[in-house]
This record gives sequence, C-alpha cells and structure tokens, in this order.
Amino acid sequence: MSKDLFRKELAKFQPYVPGKPIEEVKREYGLDRIEKLASNENQLGPSPMAVDAIIKAVQEINFYPEATAYELKRELAADLGVEEENLVIGNGGEELIQVIAQTFINEGDEVIVASPSFGIYNTTVGLLGGVIHSIPFKNNQYDFEGMLGKVNEKTKLIYVCSPNNPTGNIVTKKELDALLDALPEDVTVIMDEAYYEFAVANPDYPDSIAILKNRPNMVILRTFSKVSGIAGVRIGYVITSERIAGEMNKIKLTFDVNRLAQEAARGALKDKEYTKKTVALTKESIDRMEAYFEKQGLDYIKSYANFVFVDCKLHSKTMFEELMKRGVIVRPGYFWGWDNWIRVSTGTLEQTQFFLEKLEEVMEGIQ
Ligand SMILES: Cc1ncc(COP(=O)(O)O)c(C=O)c1O
Repeated sequence: MSKDLFRKELAKFQPYVPGKPIEEVKREYGLDRIEKLASNENQLGPSPMAVDAIIKAVQEINFYPEATAYELKRELAADLGVEEENLVIGNGGEELIQVIAQTFINEGDEVIVASPSFGIYNTTVGLLGGVIHSIPFKNNQYDFEGMLGKVNEKTKLIYVCSPNNPTGNIVTKKELDALLDALPEDVTVIMDEAYYEFAVANPDYPDSIAILKNRPNMVILRTFSKVSGIAGVRIGYVITSERIAGEMNKIKLTFDVNRLAQEAARGALKDKEYTKKTVALTKESIDRMEAYFEKQGLDYIKSYANFVFVDCKLHSKTMFEELMKRGVIVRPGYFWGWDNWIRVSTGTLEQTQFFLEKLEEVMEGIQ
C-alpha cells in the first residue's frame, strides 16, 4: 500500500495502545480486586441527578438530539454568568480540542505547549500540519519564559492546562497575568480547565471567565467527565468570545452531542451537592497520598486536581507492572518522558489506602 494514500502527517503518529481489559488482568494474575486509578475518573460514580435525567431521556432516543444543545446552553450560560453565544458544547473536551485545532490551524502555523501536558493538543495540531513547540517544565513548573521565547509572527495558539495533566499543578493568577501581558493580542490562549472544580477553591486560581471579558482571544475548556462522573456519555464545553464560538460551532458535526449526554449534563449542572462531595473526597484522597509521599521522602508535585504525579524512584514501566500484578492500575510517566514518575488518580479512601499499601509493598521489595 502506498503511503500517498493517506494524509502525510499520519506518518508522524503512533497507534493508540489500549491498556489490558480489567477482566484479563484479573485472570492473568489471579486477582479478585482491581482498582483502576489511571484515567482520573470519578470513583464515587456518576452524579445521581445526571443518572435520573438519562433514565427519563432514554425513551426518546428514537429522536436525534437537539443540534444546538439549546436547553443545556441556556442553563449553563446562566450558571456561568455568560451568554449562550459564548458557549460551544462538544462530545467531551477531546472533541472540542480537535475542533479548536480545526478552527485555527493552517499548515505551518505554530503553537506552543508545555511538556508534560495533555497529549491531544499535539496530535490535533500535528495532523493539520501545525508546528508544535513543546517547552519542558522547569523545576516541575511551567517555563513561561521559555514558552514566550518561542512566540513569533506565526504563533497562533498557546495551550495552558491548569490544573495540568499529568502534573496537577495550577497556573496562578499572577503567572497568567504576566503571560497575558507579554503575549501579543493575536495569539489565542487555550485554557484547558478540565479539572477546574478541584482547583477553584485555591485563592491563587485565576478567574478565566473574568479575563475573557477583557481578552476575547481566549478559549476556556471544561468538562462534565471528571467532577460530575459522566465520562462515559461524553460531554464538555468551551467558553469563549462570541466570534470564536461562532466559528467553532460552524464546523462541529450537527449531532455530535447525543441526547443522553445533553440531559445528563443538565442534571449534573443542578447537582451542586455531588460536586461538593466529590471535591471534598478528592481533597482527602490527595492529602493522604501527599502525606504518605512526604513521609517516604518521595518527590511529588503538589496537586490541585483529582490525581497526583510522583517520583517512585523506579522505572515507571516496572512500577506500573508491579502495581498491576497487585491489583492497582496507574498511568506510567515514561509516556511523557518522565521515566520514574507515575500518575495516580484519587479514589475513595479505601482505594487510596489500597494503592498506598501496594506501592509500599513494591518499594520494600526493591530495597
Ligand atoms: C487536561 C484534559 N483536558 C481535556 C480532557 C478531555 O476530557 P473529556 O474528553 O472526557 O471531556 C481531559 C481528559 O482526561 C484532560 O485530562
């Protein structure tokens, strides 16, 4: 088969390697308990109000969904204090990240990302022939000086993920203000706030919607996958200027956000109790893990998300396998080039304890 059959950029990509199905891991290692703490999911389950809304909506799945997500947009706009014209609803944040690239990137346009960060920025931009400048973290934080050093007249986008996946740290108000002051107006800032709800209580966390009102060249991304626990139905949203939202809405597929997802999101939006409960449990889980890492003298990055990134002093491929054999699935850092680090998601306190026990068992075994 000739390579010319395909888009030339595809040659730069590797296929997605899925993890083993849980049932197979159980069989292979003779385990009866497996805790998957690898995808930053909500271990409390889905928001009950989202589930109720899905059950009601299920009788109507013979109809296409509302193409503009009319009701959800109205309620979300009121909740956020923006206009409906400022919103784009998508089939998860992932689809919106793809739509962002399609909206802005011509071949040869440049973008700036941090490393490590969420990998889909690179694939979506790379597919369209965009040029990616990936700036490594410095002292376990964003290197904004390094990022600004890459800005030139071809720079279209700069991605700021806060809290950052996989490191969990936030970009503070002061840092964001300084970045925006130094950045030309025509560079669009993509603020990925998929983990917003876990960080917003921090007084240093910036109010990106307030910033957007003065700097329309900004796209804020959020999702119902994490705090509301509805990752499986796929729904996220963008808050941006009316002009950018208008362009993004033009190219989205008509029925990308299914009927059940729209209703689930409307339910989840009302379920403030569930958000509170999830955020409180997440903080307890993070505090426990961080206290343990402190006690063990393990380096970690202070997290404001529902996961933590820690240096486990062992190659993460080995740590991943050793933990899996004991019934815990985490995300190994070598995927991002951080060989000895793992990213572990929060869970119930029992799950967190189970992970810490298994981690200790592996670490004792290597001493
Ligand atoms: C930083 C970040 N952005 C966006 C997403 C996309 O989330 P979803 O497509 O589930 O809405 C994720 C998911 O893990 C993420 O970690």
